[in-house]
Amino acid sequence: MSTTADYTEKIPNNVNLHEDRRLQRALESWQPNFLNWWQTMGPTLPTQDVYLRTAVNVGRDGWAQFGHVAMPEYRWGIFLAERDPGRKIGFGEHMGEPVWDKVPGEYRAELQRLIVIQGDTEPASVEQQRNLGATAPSLYDLRNLFQVNVEEGRHLWAMVYLLHAYFGREGREEAEELLHRNSGSLDSPRILGAFNEETPDWLSFFMFTYFTDRDGKYQLGTLKESAFDPLSRTCEFMLKEEAHHMMVGTTGVDRVVQRTVEVMREHDTDDVAGLGAIPLPVIQKYLNFHYSVSLDLFGGETSTNVANYYTAGLKGRWLEDRRKDDHKLTSDSIMVDALTEDAGGELAIGQTEVLALTGLNTDLRREYISDCQGGVKRWNRILEEGGVRQRLKLPHVAFNRKVGAFAGIEASPDGEQLPAGEWQRRQGRWLPTEVDKTYVRSLMQPVHQRGKIAAWIAPPRNGINGQPFDYDYVHLA
Ligand SMILES: [Fe+2]
Ligand SMILES: [Fe+2]
Repeated sequence: MSTTADYTEKIPNNVNLHEDRRLQRALESWQPNFLNWWQTMGPTLPTQDVYLRTAVNVGRDGWAQFGHVAMPEYRWGIFLAERDPGRKIGFGEHMGEPVWDKVPGEYRAELQRLIVIQGDTEPASVEQQRNLGATAPSLYDLRNLFQVNVEEGRHLWAMVYLLHAYFGREGREEAEELLHRNSGSLDSPRILGAFNEETPDWLSFFMFTYFTDRDGKYQLGTLKESAFDPLSRTCEFMLKEEAHHMMVGTTGVDRVVQRTVEVMREHDTDDVAGLGAIPLPVIQKYLNFHYSVSLDLFGGETSTNVANYYTAGLKGRWLEDRRKDDHKLTSDSIMVDALTEDAGGELAIGQTEVLALTGLNTDLRREYISDCQGGVKRWNRILEEGGVRQRLKLPHVAFNRKVGAFAGIEASPDGEQLPAGEWQRRQGRWLPTEVDKTYVRSLMQPVHQRGKIAAWIAPPRNGINGQPFDYDYVHLA
């Protein structure tokens, strides 16, 4: 199989699309609808071209090419990681059997559902971010935004390919629906809550790419383990692209914190609001918000659906092959977050023991949480090196939750359970208020000149693909 895409084809791919005329025609008839969606729901800032990475290969020696591209002409392609002919199912009741090249009838509905839910998040984030170009702090950042956007578009293609290729008419109908639902729409919203929140400013964007895109990384990680090999190979390649999205979030928050520290030191004050930087308490509130809504994306602490997915081999654990157990989990247990009765008979934040299989959402959420701690650690290092005593932190898992065991209670970032009235009174200290949001938005003045950057954020340490920061990453229309 050749792994390099043929770019003379309408739809670049490494799946030998030309050998399956029916599938090719189906995708070619979906393509104009996708482009129409991109034009109406994609980035609003008019550009001539953008210095973008385009996936052209899945091999080890370079998989992407860089160049200035007019965005509507971006080549959204279909790429699956190379097939491992000896691959065996790594967990569940089919463990040790060869992986599946086709969808087994008994798991069709479940697999389709998993693919639709993943697919729905990809265009959703493009919709959420569509107006950010108008307020980009630099051309470098503008380019990164558009890179993330076109790749989320490609991830939609990845899921639509699976739906078209393996799920027949129902799959094609679902592929249409992926373009009809829209983020924040009252009539047909996106499936998951966090993907209906707006991304109104760049601090939100960096927090989103750090916390919410990272949820995507973990979901893709579980699907990469799937016994359904085409899904596994698709997700493996998507994870490669996700690394850049993670980098945008991580270094974006780095640079905001860096700039805040510089202004704090320069003026010897914590109160940098009047000085054009973002105060640390506001950064903390944005962090609290994006982290807590992203925790909700992992679902309830226990789930029999997810237990069944695991047993069937549809969806594994994060880094399944590094786990030192039987990969079946039929006799293991796990402690999960729960409301438990305290000595006085009141419901309190606690934990309870459940079967490991039903607690798999908790397992994945914990992997995610420990990853998120890495970001906080590096941002605190910036604070420490800047000689500032304040620190950022992740709020308690019960804080601001709308899904799972703690959806019905209120808790402070320290994990103290609060009566509703007190939560109402104090939540403005922990979540962005209208005043905070208005202030952050007031800073979002576009800087679209080469080599220049907004005052609220530090420049990046490195440019893209070896280019300097002052490279002409974007030509505006
Ligand atoms: Fe994605
Ligand atoms: Fe992403």
